[in-house]
Amino acid sequence: MKIVIKNISKLVQTELKDIKYKAGNQMNSINTIDDAYIEIEDGLITNFGNMNEWKGINDWNQTTIIDAEEGMVFPTYCDSHTHLVFPESRENEFNDRINGLSYQEIAKNGGGILNSAKKMQEIDEDKLFEESYIRLKNLIHLGTGAIEIKSGYGLNLESELKILRVIKKLKDKSPITIKSTFLGAHAVPKEYKNNKKLYLETVINKMLPKIVEEKLADYIDIFCEIGYFSSDDTIKLLQAGKQFGLRGKTHVNQFNSIGGVKASIDNDALSVDHLETMREEDFKAFKNSDCIATLLPSCSFFLGIPYSPAQEFIKRNIPFNLASDYNPGSSPSGDMNFIASLGSIKLGLNAEQVINSTTINGAYAMQLNKELGTIKVGKKANLFITKKIPSYHYLHYSFSEKLISKVIIEGKEFKE
Ligand code: NIG
Ligand code: FE
Repeated sequence: MKIVIKNISKLVQTELKDIKYKAGNQMNSINTIDDAYIEIEDGLITNFGNMNEWKGINDWNQTTIIDAEEGMVFPTYCDSHTHLVFPESRENEFNDRINGLSYQEIAKNGGGILNSAKKMQEIDEDKLFEESYIRLKNLIHLGTGAIEIKSGYGLNLESELKILRVIKKLKDKSPITIKSTFLGAHAVPKEYKNNKKLYLETVINKMLPKIVEEKLADYIDIFCEIGYFSSDDTIKLLQAGKQFGLRGKTHVNQFNSIGGVKASIDNDALSVDHLETMREEDFKAFKNSDCIATLLPSCSFFLGIPYSPAQEFIKRNIPFNLASDYNPGSSPSGDMNFIASLGSIKLGLNAEQVINSTTINGAYAMQLNKELGTIKVGKKANLFITKKIPSYHYLHYSFSEKLISKVIIEGKEFKE
């Protein structure tokens, strides 16, 4: 069956040849086609262009027409950093923060990641899957067509496996592309309070081999931060991951710059994520590397911490993408439309920079740039159609307005 989307006022982020990512000045441009059509077969984009060039339909019985009703068509968002599989919301801690406690103080009192880990150990795998699947469906309706999901609320073998098996089931059941990341080194569990070294050894020697054996992870992650894990721990973990073919996507420089950026990049990390606090040496670590920065503006918004200096990344030609960090503690929303708006409002990005950093660059941060992230012949037809809007920047400007009318995943309208 062939699918044709017609009556598109603007096709946004089209591409003729493969690109890895955009950085620096390249981020200021995207390709678009006015008054356009797009053709899809077997879930892949087969053709697109201006309506004047459209060859029409050969076989009406084998063709489905989707009318975009003069809306715009975008490639779906690529959200490269989430913790979508979590057991419960944490609005009690939100209330504590409103009453003056900081994220770190809450964590010290047994809240934060350890609170979620306790709940994770109690929740049954089926329930965890059902709730995670509902969250995922909601995000697809909001325009996300590829997503990375981390473990990290388990903090013991059994619970980490529970999360990763749920992610595996999400991969099997959901039509969107999902990558999974093993984040056993997310926090030091209570039982190991005075023996972090032993916990890291457990992560590396007991959990990692089992997870690899079950093929449950695409990447490996660690929270490199004061009170959590050091840059030496990061090196140890990434080297262990490398032996099993897992590249790093690390949590670094959220509150403090303690060498995690360099430790990650020197050890072949695919991405370094957060980067709210950056020193000169952290920027320098990117030199001659293909590592991409992942900025998480809703975490800054929600915790009231500084935003990552996106303009510095542009000036220095360092590629970056924007992701949601969807999790119950620091970003209880996975809405990439909101992330795109924050990109403009809080990071000072123009429309083209926002589009590049939420599509092709997000795809690169999951090694999906050959199959997703732009509208290109041969790529997956993961697209969203907007309501009629005056310009593509309107999408970021009119924050919180529901502007997506249809989401197409591998050529099919997502209706679940
Ligand atoms: O990316 N910083 C570490 N991990 C998560 C938050 C985890 C939590 O608070 O539950 C993050 O912000
Ligand atoms: Fe995170």
